[in-house]
Amino acid sequence: MLKIVVMVSGGGTNLQAIIDGVKDGKITNTEIAGVISNNRNAYALKRAEENKIPGLCISPKDYESREIFNEKLLEAVDGFAPDLIVLAGFLVVIPPEMTAKYKNRMINIHPSLIPSFCGKGFYGLKVHEAALERGVKVVGATVHFVDEGTDTGPIILQKAVEVQQGDTPEVLQRRVMEQAEWIILPRAIDLIANGKVRVEDHRTWIEE
Ligand code: GAR
Repeated sequence: MLKIVVMVSGGGTNLQAIIDGVKDGKITNTEIAGVISNNRNAYALKRAEENKIPGLCISPKDYESREIFNEKLLEAVDGFAPDLIVLAGFLVVIPPEMTAKYKNRMINIHPSLIPSFCGKGFYGLKVHEAALERGVKVVGATVHFVDEGTDTGPIILQKAVEVQQGDTPEVLQRRVMEQAEWIILPRAIDLIANGKVRVEDHRTWIEE
């Protein structure tokens, strides 16, 4: 059984896709041990509560320094003894101690086809604003392992989505979630839970 901790900052629709995936059997061999948010008001914490999953808030606002926050965050994660950390819209810079400790055991969902529209400053709606601004015709989402860089780790799954004439950032964000994120994030967890993902030379090999 793969024990996962899901880290969130906002609405938690990707968390919901994971919860539903575990319930309906799209994700097998997996237990959601806990949900951690940096934001007390994140609707994602409500989703955890409604599904009887332990939820925790570790907010930088509650600590004197970033170092102390980083320590507390790692302590909270370690407290669940997870096999895998899933960043599902967690919009906080991951402490280097955590990336080192959970190397190849932490994944992230990013709302673009990496290496486009990723890295520092590209998160949430900003990604879709930038894509529309550039006028690209195809966007998408990526699930990747987290390394010390921003969105630079080995790519596990990607899925493309078409831009439509007249899209707003909000409309495009929703389509990318529906047609890509909510599909590839549960799929990636299921693959990892069943030992089907191997990392070699900064690339992954998937055994389908
Ligand atoms: C998702 O679109 C996710 O890909 C993005 O934040 C949103 C969270 O939505 N993550 C990033 O931009 C990470 N760089 P959700 O809370 O409804 O899952």
